[in-house]
Amino acid sequence: SAAAAAGKTVVIGLAADSGCGKSTFVRRLTSVLGGGAEPPSGGNPDSNTLVGSTATVICLDDYHSLDRAARKARGLTALDPRANDFDLMYEQVRAIKEGRAVDKPVYNHVTGLLDPPERIAPPKILVIEGLHPMYDERVRDLLDFSIYLDISEEVKFAWKIQRDMAERGHSLESIKASIDARKPDFDAYIDPQKQYADAVIEVLPTQLIPNDEEGKVLRVRLIMKEGVRHFAPVYLFDEGSVVTWIPCGRKLSCSYPGIKFAYGFGTYFGHEVSVLEMDGQFDKLDELIYVETHLSNLSTKFYGEVAQQMLKHADLPGSSNGTGLFQTIVGLKVRDLYEQIAAERADVTTDPLRV
Ligand code: ADP
Ligand code: G6P
Repeated sequence: SAAAAAGKTVVIGLAADSGCGKSTFVRRLTSVLGGGAEPPSGGNPDSNTLVGSTATVICLDDYHSLDRAARKARGLTALDPRANDFDLMYEQVRAIKEGRAVDKPVYNHVTGLLDPPERIAPPKILVIEGLHPMYDERVRDLLDFSIYLDISEEVKFAWKIQRDMAERGHSLESIKASIDARKPDFDAYIDPQKQYADAVIEVLPTQLIPNDEEGKVLRVRLIMKEGVRHFAPVYLFDEGSVVTWIPCGRKLSCSYPGIKFAYGFGTYFGHEVSVLEMDGQFDKLDELIYVETHLSNLSTKFYGEVAQQMLKHADLPGSSNGTGLFQTIVGLKVRDLYEQIAAERADVTTDPLRV
């Protein structure tokens, strides 16, 4: 948008329900962007912010207007817009975009209370991650690029079980109950934001195993809007064609159930999109270079950069499947978008014809 182009800081929105991979995505993104990502030094130890020399990541939970007790008393979830201060969110994201530092509130996830504000200086790239980066039209208009992580119910359930049952000792029933309790607000306030996203990573159960119950093998779709400034969608083999590709064979090891890629185009909430899909998982990450070679418009800076990033973060969830691959690719597209915007600005300030 025109407003987005006029800003100083490039602003990226990352939306998803909680427990759906935002922090994992942020780690891959900041790694691709370079310049580090650390909690602000000497500040609140429970700060949700990450600061690097290229990007600052803020968590929109910091704009909760009601703390945990107040939400409970009023019977509202954190997903409910009435529990969040969109006026302040808008004001502060706009200020940062215009190059001004702000004193942002801090929501303490440990205590459930609002802590004293922390100072946020304008970075080159501001990532706003959370439940509602595309909910408020004013905030949405400040975004140069937006991403939605769309985790299907089955997969969300499988991830929650894995984490809350294995690591936190919750029961299956209580996990199901907590997902069900959030669902109406998720459907009303979080899910609709995907229609505004420039890129959606959709995570579904595999189609390679009939009636898969385990939820370990995933079918992941990268949905990319056409016609977005500074964003050239990635493609497989030939742009604008329809392709399915099974890379398993002499050059790529695949154990059961194998890997299947697909590429094509279509519409998504009335927008033209292209879609890259990967079902299955990699056996050996160092063979990923073979897949990378067949993808185009990756915005890599050198041959094998995708594979290198995936290997570097092999310990993060999703590294052997399409979630990690597509998060890495979207990270590269964000870096490219930033560099294009920065180059345009440099042109404007040095072009004598425009002075
Ligand atoms: P958020 O920041 O949205 O709460 P996280 O990135 O912290 O989400 O991920 C929450 C949990 O979900 C992880 O600890 C992991 O158990 C699971 N998870 C996230 N992404 C994946 C993935 N791609 N594959 C498998 N599990 C995942
Ligand atoms: C979501 C929000 C968090 C909130 C959590 C639990 O995950 O992102 O900010 O803390 O819900 O909400 P509760 O109202 O139970 O504290």
